[in-house]
Amino acid sequence: MMSSSFGLVLSVLATLVVASSANFHNDVNITWGDGRGKILENGELLTLTLDKWSGSGFESKDEYLFGKIEMSIKLVPGNSAGLVTTYYLRSHGKTWDEIDFEFLGNSTGQPITIHTNVYCGGKGDREQQFHLWFDPSQDFHTYTILWNPKRIIFSVDNTVIREFNNMESMGVPFPTKQPMRMYASFWNADDWATRGGLVKTDYNLAPFTASYRRYKAEVCVWSNGKSSCPSSAAWMTEELDVATKQKLQDIQKKHMIYNYCTDTNRFAATGLPKECTAPPK
Ligand SMILES: *[C@@H]1O[C@H](CO)[C@@H](O)[C@H](O)[C@H]1NC(C)=O
Ligand SMILES: *[C@@H]1O[C@H](CO)[C@@H](O)[C@H](O)[C@H]1NC(C)=O
Repeated sequence: MMSSSFGLVLSVLATLVVASSANFHNDVNITWGDGRGKILENGELLTLTLDKWSGSGFESKDEYLFGKIEMSIKLVPGNSAGLVTTYYLRSHGKTWDEIDFEFLGNSTGQPITIHTNVYCGGKGDREQQFHLWFDPSQDFHTYTILWNPKRIIFSVDNTVIREFNNMESMGVPFPTKQPMRMYASFWNADDWATRGGLVKTDYNLAPFTASYRRYKAEVCVWSNGKSSCPSSAAWMTEELDVATKQKLQDIQKKHMIYNYCTDTNRFAATGLPKECTAPPK
């Protein structure tokens, strides 16, 4: 009797813990868009909409100093030219750190661009862009940012597309001190997003909707000036093995459409950034 009701309590608790790891009501606040962002299906689905007047966005309630965050996202199908959907980590202030996934819309049938960037101390300029091996508007796909003291790893459906290593010892800044929050947004950027601003958003198709599911934050939560990590956090020391590094090279060869590290025109005056010319580790 005692033990079975104790078991029941435990299983109810376990269910609560599991549920809270993927419930938008618990994890995020919709912060702008005047009702255009909605949490649906008991917290399992979050939709952001955009029309002529506004986009919308949300952010995590907690701040993190290191973590592995994961989100399934389904982008606007059809003509999404001019629209930008985002999912990123960012700290406060003028010398902020930021780790970005951005999805740049396109005309019907044209590829959506996955844009990634890393900012340290308010300075970015570390863009790598991809056209993926699937159409990200047809279904939900999982986008992961792993951020530990040694490296940042971007993955799509568990396939690594980018790694940014901590090379502070060579004078390359790396985010290790400022806690970040997860942000997501959906906005109009038809002044630059699609083919450099040539293709405008078609508001006859509005409202547009981007959908988010299965947010999973395995993180060290920042509170009162210190960060508390879970007792087992394999991602804190995660690194790519040889086979994964090889696969990453193949993926980048096939799917990367822009790499700041090879943009010699852009960096003609200063030379390529240090992290681009460092010998591979
Ligand atoms: C989220 O919303 C709750 C309830 O309105 C509020 O108390 C809290 O400060 C908000 N958190 C953030 C990070 O905006
Ligand atoms: C849109 O499609 C064009 C033509 O295929 C392509 O060059 C471009 O990279 C795509 N993405 C954006 C964001 O313009």
